[in-house]
Amino acid sequence: MASEQHGRWQRSPHRSRLDESAILPGNHTALSAAGATLRLMDDRLDVREYVDLMSAYGAVNFGHQNPQIASSEAPLDLVACLYPPEADKLADWLCESLQLPGYEVLYQVGGSFAAATAVAISQRRRPGRMLSITGSFHGLGVDSLALTGVHRDFALQDTPWSGAAGLAVSQIAPGEFPDSWDDISGLIFEPVQGANGYVPLPVSWLAELAESARRSDVTVIADEIQSGYFRHGALSVARANGIEPDILLFSKSLTNGRYPLSAVVYRGSMVPDGGSGIWLAHTFQTGAEGFRAACAVADYIDSHPVSEHCAAVEEVLVWAAARLKDLGAADIHVSGPTLSFRHPRISGRDIVRSCFERGVVPFTGGASAERVRVAPPVTIPAVQLRQALVLVLAVIEELTPMEQISEEITVPRITQEEFRDFLREFLLKQASAPDVAAVSDETDLFGTGILDSLRLIEFIVAAENLVGGEIPVENISVRSFRTPATIWTQVISPIIAEIPS
Ligand SMILES: Cc1ncc(COP(=O)(O)O)c(C=O)c1O
Repeated sequence: MASEQHGRWQRSPHRSRLDESAILPGNHTALSAAGATLRLMDDRLDVREYVDLMSAYGAVNFGHQNPQIASSEAPLDLVACLYPPEADKLADWLCESLQLPGYEVLYQVGGSFAAATAVAISQRRRPGRMLSITGSFHGLGVDSLALTGVHRDFALQDTPWSGAAGLAVSQIAPGEFPDSWDDISGLIFEPVQGANGYVPLPVSWLAELAESARRSDVTVIADEIQSGYFRHGALSVARANGIEPDILLFSKSLTNGRYPLSAVVYRGSMVPDGGSGIWLAHTFQTGAEGFRAACAVADYIDSHPVSEHCAAVEEVLVWAAARLKDLGAADIHVSGPTLSFRHPRISGRDIVRSCFERGVVPFTGGASAERVRVAPPVTIPAVQLRQALVLVLAVIEELTPMEQISEEITVPRITQEEFRDFLREFLLKQASAPDVAAVSDETDLFGTGILDSLRLIEFIVAAENLVGGEIPVENISVRSFRTPATIWTQVISPIIAEIPS
């Protein structure tokens, strides 16, 4: 049984081991999450905070426990036959936001089921082979796995059953076109390949491929389950690139991680003929929780400058991408608030594991986990992101053979405003800190007891990480740390002045 025994957490022998947790070192249990911070407990019962650079594969793009989304409990627990009003609101919102007026939304549970449903609609319109792109991932059902090119070897469901379905699937590589569309029912693609390591497909080729498929009456399906909902800066990457697919698939951040709702957004004229008028498509199709959360996400998107958040994250990632290049990283992509790369000399898995040990959680991607994906919630404060990336860069520097490093890592200069945010964050973490909002640039931090010698040491370590340099011992005195203003002028600014821009 799961329990605390002899100061250790004993995992339940009944919890299956058929999962992906081995990708991270050790056994960890998630206790809570807020914003971009995760609190995890290891099996020695030690609790530690981690910076989330993963957003649960793009399922929590708008920040953990986002207060505008989290309090969205539905007053209903019906899951079949009858829809709550939010189902209509969400369908309208999706079609309006995507600017697809003649479309309808079929709700499903989970991404794999959405992909399977898209195949079903395509097949009912016009039977034939499905065409997918090498490096794509479309889910783990027998049918959706058959469309999938990457990470199949890890899939529990990769058995002769999905192999049999795979006989009806053809694959082409990015840049290629099929010889003929004659026997093809549908084309499915991820505009940015997620499991493959956040690799954007070439935009003009994809648009040409989709247009050529459409002219041949082939159903064009954009799987935006991972790429959608602002993971790359837009609700739909395909729409942002001017493509009009016949079917678009969304899930993951559709509810910001609160419910595995998925949405199959299809051209209304594609409703299948025949049948009894009753279509059995999912028995949990009307789950009220999912719609409630999805409408809260839609309201959040409409009432917050989400594009500005994405641009702010992207700016920091562009800086990190340049440093990564200096450290020998290759195939680097910054696509909106998401960064990905591989390092020819270090495995993605080693990078991710070492980052995890330092309290930062990026994740791997690519056929053999050779890539690293950095996908923080788009709401992450710039200072927290910058600190986390400094650690990622330090890990890579540590793991890189010396001759590989062409230049010293430089950290971008922080502004006084960012320093204030950082100080506020630091003080908020101190259980005994008084009202942080009342701390001004002139507050006497020692006189009011906000800082003491013990906290000062923690603060110095955190501040060194922030600015990417050591605070000289001669600058460490009660006088220089007396107020936020003296820390800025006497401690932080002199270090920043030394940093090459
Ligand atoms: C692009 C894409 N399609 C489909 C799926 C399958 O979604 P689910 O795991 O919810 O079934 C995923 C999951 O990561 C995905 O990234």
